[in-house]
Amino acid sequence: MGTLSYIKNYLKDRDVASVTPSSRFLVRRICRRMDFNEPRIIVEYGPGEGVFSNHIWKRMSPDSRLILIETNPDFTRKLQALTTSERVEVVQDTAENVKDILANRDIAGADYVLSGIPFSFFDEQDREALIRTTRDVLKPGGQFLVYQHHDHMDEPLRRIFAQVEAEREWLNVPPIHVHAATKST
Ligand SMILES: C[S@@+](CC[C@H](N)C(=O)[O-])C[C@H]1O[C@@H](n2cnc3c(N)ncnc32)[C@H](O)[C@@H]1O
Repeated sequence: MGTLSYIKNYLKDRDVASVTPSSRFLVRRICRRMDFNEPRIIVEYGPGEGVFSNHIWKRMSPDSRLILIETNPDFTRKLQALTTSERVEVVQDTAENVKDILANRDIAGADYVLSGIPFSFFDEQDREALIRTTRDVLKPGGQFLVYQHHDHMDEPLRRIFAQVEAEREWLNVPPIHVHAATKST
């Protein structure tokens, strides 16, 4: 697990978009926004090899569920090998299909959607469509937590979500923009 695997996958699949996993500082910065005391539905777009997933599944409450949506087959296989719990499901699919993925599992809404997918590769229309879809699958008060190398999410998130907080994590390669967008209650 780690940089070598990311480099290998990055060379084959440009959507991997990074040659190294997120830092533990970034993982902690984002996950401290999650309340693990209650049962939660948590969705992750683009878990890669699971640096965030691993942190989350170790902490989430026994009745919580974690749905990991990953396009890359190599990462999907590795994640499936790591997860034996019924509370964690790895889905090889694209984040754009999140509505169907949740509906097929009778999940009415998510508490958190975490995303590390490269929104910079989307054109403006597709980016906005996925942000709106994500808002739709969140419960009222639910949060969309996004980390991106470029600061192109701030404007559309503020247009689509009721409340948005922005911060940066400098202890990551490269330093990264983090947004927490909350759906109105
Ligand atoms: C920058 S890497 C982040 C990996 C990991 N979450 C981390 O923080 O180290 C982006 C990940 O998103 C996946 N990905 C890219 N586009 C996707 C999409 N449309 N739906 C789901 N996963 C996607 C890539 O395969 C890759 O694993």
